[in-house]
Amino acid sequence: MPAMTLPSEHPMLSAIVDDLAARGWSQQALFLPGELIRALAAECRRRAAQGELEPAAIGRGDAQTIREAIRGDRIQWIEPGDADCCDRYLEVMDCLRQTINRELFLGLEDFECHFALYPPGAFYRRHLDRFQDDDRRMVSAVLYLNDDWQAGQGGELRMYLDGREHDVPPEAASLVVFLSGDVPHEVLPASRDRLSLTGWFRRRGNDPF
Ligand code: OGA
Ligand code: MN
Repeated sequence: MPAMTLPSEHPMLSAIVDDLAARGWSQQALFLPGELIRALAAECRRRAAQGELEPAAIGRGDAQTIREAIRGDRIQWIEPGDADCCDRYLEVMDCLRQTINRELFLGLEDFECHFALYPPGAFYRRHLDRFQDDDRRMVSAVLYLNDDWQAGQGGELRMYLDGREHDVPPEAASLVVFLSGDVPHEVLPASRDRLSLTGWFRRRGNDPF
């Protein structure tokens, strides 16, 4: 893959930021090259096969049955140095972070991100990506890793936008970005495994001291 161009030279990053400013969300159909998407999907499947994906939490101390009634995905956080494909994704998202900061002055400090695998039938009920006890998450970004997703297989991300519903199928290389505290959304059940990389740009937390 050619080296990433500088943020200011990358029209797709500017388009995302323009969308965020104008309406609070953005959708890009082909955000990354197919070979990087396939490497990320293989990395997610490798982790799943090794039993590294864990049931995702929804808060603190939630009973397992309550959790599964709200979300049924399994996740693993990614860290720099995990794998070359993950590092390349983190690099691109750091360019996006800098572009957002330059244009929108959100003061985003970092990007946290996990693989997510929804087995057939799993869903995530309507929610906001902002915790009551932690308001550092400002911008959500979901990259889908599913080759050859067919209409009728379900698994859409459903966003609730000013009284209107907007569905995004989880097709390979699609990216959705939205303001974490403003856009309620849910994940609809699918008839096949649904893989993604889900992440959040965060600002600095309030220091209690
Ligand atoms: C989440 C989430 C959306 C998706 O993990 O908080 O809403 O499409 N994911 O996977
Ligand atoms: Mn969410």
